[in-house]
Amino acid sequence: MTAMKSVQTEKHGILVLDYGSQYTLLIARRLRELGVYAEVHDPARLMHEVLDLDHLPFKPIGVILSGGPDSVGEKGARLMPRWVTPAAVPVLGICYGLQLLAHVHGGRVRAAAKREYGRSHVRLSPGAESHPLMRSVPRDSVAWMSHGDDVEQLPEGWVQIALTEGGVLAAASHVSKPWYGLQFHPEVEHTEAGRQILENFALNICRARPDWTAGTMVEEAIQKVQQDVGPHGRVLVACSGGVDSTVLAAVVEKALGPDRVTAVFCDTGLMRKDEVAWVSDALRGMGLRDVRVISAREKFMKALSGVIDPEEKRRRIGRLFIELFEAFATEDKKHAASLGLHGFSHLGQGTLYPDVIESAGHGAGAKVIKTHHNVGGLPDRLALKLCEPFRFLFKDEVRAIGRALGLAPELVDRHPFPGPGLAVRIPGEVTPERVAILQEADSVFINALRKSGLYPKVWQAFAVLLPVQTVGVMGDNRTYENVVALRAVTSTDGMTAEAGELPFEFLTTVAREIVQNVRGVNRVVYDITSKPPATIEWE
Ligand code: XMP
Repeated sequence: MTAMKSVQTEKHGILVLDYGSQYTLLIARRLRELGVYAEVHDPARLMHEVLDLDHLPFKPIGVILSGGPDSVGEKGARLMPRWVTPAAVPVLGICYGLQLLAHVHGGRVRAAAKREYGRSHVRLSPGAESHPLMRSVPRDSVAWMSHGDDVEQLPEGWVQIALTEGGVLAAASHVSKPWYGLQFHPEVEHTEAGRQILENFALNICRARPDWTAGTMVEEAIQKVQQDVGPHGRVLVACSGGVDSTVLAAVVEKALGPDRVTAVFCDTGLMRKDEVAWVSDALRGMGLRDVRVISAREKFMKALSGVIDPEEKRRRIGRLFIELFEAFATEDKKHAASLGLHGFSHLGQGTLYPDVIESAGHGAGAKVIKTHHNVGGLPDRLALKLCEPFRFLFKDEVRAIGRALGLAPELVDRHPFPGPGLAVRIPGEVTPERVAILQEADSVFINALRKSGLYPKVWQAFAVLLPVQTVGVMGDNRTYENVVALRAVTSTDGMTAEAGELPFEFLTTVAREIVQNVRGVNRVVYDITSKPPATIEWE
């Protein structure tokens, strides 16, 4: 193959081949932050050159081979599609990607004498300051390593451009071809010059135009909805009050007009305090004409009565959601038929890119959706097609679309909220009384975060009502009441998280306010565990 040609679309971008590194998605994220479109694909699915590339929804102007856990040359190690280096586009190998490039071209890769994980110091080789990949990169900098192998000998025609402090090859390139490699991870925050190196690769070497902006994203999402739904379809958007489904409803409304979209919000009784009124007002305020609230508090409480096992709670909630939506769609179909109209053709879902890509790099791009992120089972049972215009977007990008569409910051910048609602924040039996206690405590915490300006500083924050009672003393009386745990985390995608370092004074004030104002609570604790080993929710 001589060049990547005959791609139907004019959209340009960088193709990231996923060899299974935990950081692969970050590569795409960093590039998009630079305004350069990037997509992650499984190399195993792109082995057949033109045939496969023609099916990509964009034209690759550069290829990045990600890191990964394999060792090149070993049985079962993932391979580089043969078209990659002859393709006449720049190629950057990261960690395993570099080793693969070196191996394929006759270099030697070895199991590292000393495995390097974490921080390392990298020094540019003499003269490398003017190398196109290293422009504006300091001579010495900190870089993030995570590898068991390294390149012992470069292939012919390659030169080293940086070494680690331990003398291991850190960066290299071909003398005349646009092939580059890094032993460290430029996509990781801790790599000081990482952003600059990716910018050098994308903008200077691949000559990408930084035109992936909020405006482009809005336009594309609208077009996608119009193409998927066609001129006569109708979309049911199951809204949770979260950012993704709210922005989705706004995009569908923009794409199809107010008469072909119905936003349905289920009042499970497991929402935060005042959430139901707030969300339905917000949806109407966005111009949606048909906003329906399914009132199902009693049904959910009945379904959860006596249930303690968290997975069983999830199953029952999921089932009930399906039943309610089925009943809603059936009712709507009858009503539409009586007017000579069609029922819903599509279900709108705010599925995001990280949900679509399987972990571990196998089957990237596959239609895999984490069941807990969606109302599992709905599309099949309802016989609706899916409308998922955010399948290739990150949460930050969905937020940018929301802002570009003029949605209120309180909507766009909300913390994530789990589908099963407060049920996953009440370990033990869920009862209306316990939900009411939790709603009050949570509202004190969230309001205090907002008032103090700390709300946007954490990724997610909430209260949990524990299934234990402890002794306290209030006035002259001994009490025996509930414990509330507060949780606030910093994170980029919820996959890993650190406990938020909220000021101690702030926490003690919130604790006092909760104990004074929320009946049934006499003790407040703060969760300082990171994920892993804990999870964000307590379940
Ligand atoms: P965990 O507890 O698994 O949570 O560390 C990671 C993130 O996912 C959210 N979460 C959910 N979101 N439906 C959702 O839409 C769910 O069933 C669900 N369970 C957890 C959680 O709030 C956190 O942001």
